[in-house]
Amino acid sequence: MFSTDFRAKNQVTDVRLATRTTMKVGGPAQLVSFDDRGSLGELLDVPHRWLGKGANLLVDDAGVGEAVVVLGPAFDTCELSPARGGVALVKAGAALDLAELIAACIAAGLAGPEGLSGVPASVGGALRMNAGTSTCWMLDWVSRVEVVLPGERAPRWLERAEMPASYRDSGLPHGTLFLGCELSLAEGDPAALRAQGAKLKKAKAASQPLAQPSAGCVFKNPTPELPAGKLIDELGLKGLRVGGAMVSPVHANFIVNPERTATCSDVSALVRTIRDRAWRERGIELRLEVETWNCPAELHAHPRDLAKVEV
Ligand code: EPU
Repeated sequence: MFSTDFRAKNQVTDVRLATRTTMKVGGPAQLVSFDDRGSLGELLDVPHRWLGKGANLLVDDAGVGEAVVVLGPAFDTCELSPARGGVALVKAGAALDLAELIAACIAAGLAGPEGLSGVPASVGGALRMNAGTSTCWMLDWVSRVEVVLPGERAPRWLERAEMPASYRDSGLPHGTLFLGCELSLAEGDPAALRAQGAKLKKAKAASQPLAQPSAGCVFKNPTPELPAGKLIDELGLKGLRVGGAMVSPVHANFIVNPERTATCSDVSALVRTIRDRAWRERGIELRLEVETWNCPAELHAHPRDLAKVEV
């Protein structure tokens, strides 16, 4: 599928996507570790999907036919410029681990990103999903992003104001490639920022099943007043199992894969059951927060259009 020149400048391997997702589910694919901007044209000519840290992704057991592209070391960058007038610019490549960006900002006494402490993501994935918590989002501090928009051939910088971002959504079209971003950050006290980051991580560790494979929160919160986890908990579904997949007894909006034996069909059956119960018993349509690759289309259908489910 790729030329010898492309393969000399970028790494192409066969993988099981279960090894590339935090859920530890997903079949085979050809993986491209993309490093050479000069090869962008050839890459864009081939059917492809973009992958970050795989922290918010459910992949079918049959895998995917398209090339799966991760950004390589050339995009694993972080440059901090000195603050002027109390504000500093930070330039981050999309392959950078979000945790590393947060640590660099805390060490330099730059405030904001510490609010994302404990969110598992690459910078690119966090931009794409507008990853965040209940109080802040990735795009809160971003001044511009470098992207390749679907149908375009070359990277360009977009101002934050050009992105109609919302809860868990960058506002840019599906298939956009994020290459990096620039953050505009105010100065803060490193010790206070570090303490705040540690506090957030501790709260997550106390309320989320972080030791078990999962894709984080499965559903978007229908409203801030009714978080999906609370709703699923009230429906009595904690601990429900299908095969190797289970609704976490710790946080009901997590589906965990404790023995790493879950298949995509196991997870899909749980998703279907949860959506069916939320609709029939509470009249609420739960929408997936996780991205799905090649999974049954019914996971996205309105639950009123699906047959009653028994698990
Ligand atoms: N709750 C229950 N039972 C549960 C889980 C939660 O009653 O099983 C209750 C909690 O007691 C709390 C409320 O639901 O009163 C909200 O729970 P939590 O504080 O855990 O927040 P959340 O809305 O469930 C959101 C994000 C998380 C993020 C946390 C912490 C979404 C869908 N989830 O969770 O993000 O880590 O806030 O900031 O927006 C993710 O995106 O993958 C994710 C995990």
